[in-house]
Amino acid sequence: MTSSESKLDIDKIASLCKRRGFVFQSSEIYGGLASTWDYGPLGVELKRNIKDSWWNKMVWERDDMVGLDAAILMHPDTWKASGHVENFTDPLVECTDCKRRFREDHLETDVCPECSGSLSAPRMFHLMFKTHMGPVEESASTVYLRPETAQGIFVNFNNVVTSSRKKLPFGIAQIGKAFRNEITTGNFIFRTREFEMMEIEYFVVPGEDEQIHQEWLDYCLKWLYSLGISQSNLRIRTHTQNELSHYSKATYDIEYQFPWGWGEIQGIANRTDFDLKAHESKSGEKLTYFDENLKAHITPYVIEPSLGVDRTLMMIIADSYTEEEVQSSNGKTETRVLLKLSPNIAPVKVAVLPLSRNERLLPLAKKIYDSIRKSPYVNGHIQFDDAQSIGRRYRRQDEIGTPLCVTVDFETINDNAVTVRDRDTMKQVRIPVDKVISHIAEKLSVE
Ligand code: GAP
Repeated sequence: MTSSESKLDIDKIASLCKRRGFVFQSSEIYGGLASTWDYGPLGVELKRNIKDSWWNKMVWERDDMVGLDAAILMHPDTWKASGHVENFTDPLVECTDCKRRFREDHLETDVCPECSGSLSAPRMFHLMFKTHMGPVEESASTVYLRPETAQGIFVNFNNVVTSSRKKLPFGIAQIGKAFRNEITTGNFIFRTREFEMMEIEYFVVPGEDEQIHQEWLDYCLKWLYSLGISQSNLRIRTHTQNELSHYSKATYDIEYQFPWGWGEIQGIANRTDFDLKAHESKSGEKLTYFDENLKAHITPYVIEPSLGVDRTLMMIIADSYTEEEVQSSNGKTETRVLLKLSPNIAPVKVAVLPLSRNERLLPLAKKIYDSIRKSPYVNGHIQFDDAQSIGRRYRRQDEIGTPLCVTVDFETINDNAVTVRDRDTMKQVRIPVDKVISHIAEKLSVE
């Protein structure tokens, strides 16, 4: 078996995602809606595993973190105070010939990248989606779809402090949808108008912010490594002064090297006391914290690790995508496509495959499938698949990243053992049925 380097592009990823049920074009039967995507049966499992892993690492494994799930629609003053109404814009230029629109700061030339026509002067384009609350469409009823989940955390600062009795430093984590009317979208699910975020606002005593900023950078990188992402494909980029957001004192981006170039996965910003002070001034509510050591009310500084679930998912697929040349049973060389997903995030953990639909095999295979599914030692989605040839079923499971396949064959009837096949090595071992759960549990455990 030899590994072959093959050019991975977005089309290949998008086609695998569609074929295997990870991601579909939204509203496809109506011709699709630009840059919006739906997650299919496997995409939803993968996304859920990513979010669970993040929550586990960021909230459950720490005693200085709590969670929140704030509403998407917020009082419109929130966005005035946060600076989004005024500042959440991108520079838009339009081609005077083909009329296409681009984000000026994403262009590498000063002519239209599509038709080389000349470009208009930039104008600032607002990225927040507006809608109306209640039956009257008047300006007083305007509300926005949140462009980040962060503000839901800031406006709940007092509620969380009072109800959870957390002492500084502590953080609040939130996973939820955000919406941005991006000028240019694209690269599949990399930049979309509706996406999901995993954000933390970590509140610290001013003066401790710079050190804690570094600690969060390390901690976030460790989580990305725990997903199995190659370290050499990740880099840290520090924002220059003129690209910092209006609220940030310093920002690190963690970028991933996609086959088509580097792309931001996560931003880790030092938001200082900008947001708490801004909301305090707009709402008239004190948003301070009484520090018992300092014996004073202070406005905490905030370190904000923020990343997109959709981008993380795309990175995981790109990083785990592998093509190998293998010899088929008839001696031909063929290409095996597999996702080398870490078992903790693989959408299907184990597939149980009866060799055929023979009436003596099926009940036995179903019984083994049920015992694995119901075992408290094996967590996650377990599949049963009895359609098509065993070779094709292995290929399908490889392509969706299933770490283990359990095959029930005619020998099982006599020796009460099954074959367990490893996705990456394709090695098969014979395991007695009463040991199969402990074998699977051990193989799926990730340090
Ligand atoms: N609260 C901080 C904040 O919103 P950001 O850098 O604008 O910071 C954080 O966004 C993360 O959200 C990004 O690193 C990216 O992973 C994800 N993200 C931002 N815009 C996105 C979009 N249009 N489509 C998909 N993901 C996006």
